[in-house]
Amino acid sequence: MAKRNELSFLTAATLLVIIVSVSETLSRPLGEEHLLKQHEEWMAIHGRDYKDAAEKAKRYEIFKENVKRISAFNNGKDVGYKLAVNKFADLTNEEFRASYTGYKRRPTRVLSSGAAKPFKYTNFTAIPAALDWRTKKAVTSVKDQGDCGCCWAFSAVAAMEGITKLKKKKLVSLSEQELVDCDDYDDGCWGGLMDNAFEFIKSNGGLTTEANYPYRGNGGSCNTAKMANHSASITGYQDVPDNNEKALLQAVANQPVSVAIEGGGFDFRFYSSGVFTGSCGTDIDHAVTAVGYGKASGGTKYWLMKNSWGTGWGESGYMRIQRDVSSTAGLCGLAMLASYPTA
Ligand SMILES: *[C@@H]1O[C@H](CO)[C@@H](O)[C@H](O)[C@H]1NC(C)=O
Ligand SMILES: *[C@@H]1O[C@H](CO)[C@@H](O)[C@H](O)[C@H]1NC(C)=O
Repeated sequence: MAKRNELSFLTAATLLVIIVSVSETLSRPLGEEHLLKQHEEWMAIHGRDYKDAAEKAKRYEIFKENVKRISAFNNGKDVGYKLAVNKFADLTNEEFRASYTGYKRRPTRVLSSGAAKPFKYTNFTAIPAALDWRTKKAVTSVKDQGDCGCCWAFSAVAAMEGITKLKKKKLVSLSEQELVDCDDYDDGCWGGLMDNAFEFIKSNGGLTTEANYPYRGNGGSCNTAKMANHSASITGYQDVPDNNEKALLQAVANQPVSVAIEGGGFDFRFYSSGVFTGSCGTDIDHAVTAVGYGKASGGTKYWLMKNSWGTGWGESGYMRIQRDVSSTAGLCGLAMLASYPTA
């Protein structure tokens, strides 16, 4: 029995190899020579410098597999979104998740669950058909967390920049580094939660500006003078009722909202354009900020998410991701753990 299975597997594998090599010969772009050249070009663009030839060879193999998979996806059935070879192309999925995400899931949402209740937008019905907080100047330019797992800080800060602009009529870029260095409720580059960040900002009395406490991309000791130099403050924060995209819509119609999401999957990592419809699960490992919503020309409803992976990822740093899916968790779990600061 086992032999038979092995045999049919072997035959299938051999066939696959033949098909793949034939198609590779036909479409030169994925030939070995071309891929080697593509890797060199990619290294130059992204400033990669490997420590030795062995490391370079190892990275090339990973790069090659990723490029092939991206190419196969883009040449396959049109599912409404495309992938691209971006700065994450020489990393395995494990390496990527370890360094570029950073949402730390815990059994309870926050240390003492300081989130205020009830949900303040529960009776809000004046919901526009589409909304983009960028056009209302409530969103700062796209930032880049680098290889520090502090997505939670970027998500919390983007939501805070939004509510601060709506309240004070002034858009100011605020400091993620202050959260990475000073917020002891969270673990800096090793992960954290937006609610914990809001809790810290509330107890600290505010947060300073990006200009005053710029992002470094690694953890360090807290600059207490800068920590005491507040530019914006919040009165508290609230959780959007869990697993409820309608409630999330009520919240996003009022302000940018922090969203926890599964962002460590292959398609999410290499997303480049269109309305993302998966594939992903609900194993929350990342955080972004919902800064709008709408309906694409093809009719697919989407959320507009601001990410913190630079402008080279997605649609200039943003993702449109399918809205109102059948699962109450939302696509990639986006409706599971959303929250926002109050000012
Ligand atoms: C929503 O409306 C109900 C009924 O009028 C009211 O009892 C409740 O306090 C309102 N909730 C909020 C959060 O405004
Ligand atoms: C406080 O922040 C402002 C800008 O927000 C800056 O001009 C000033 O130098 C800062 N002061 C200290 C002590 O960091």
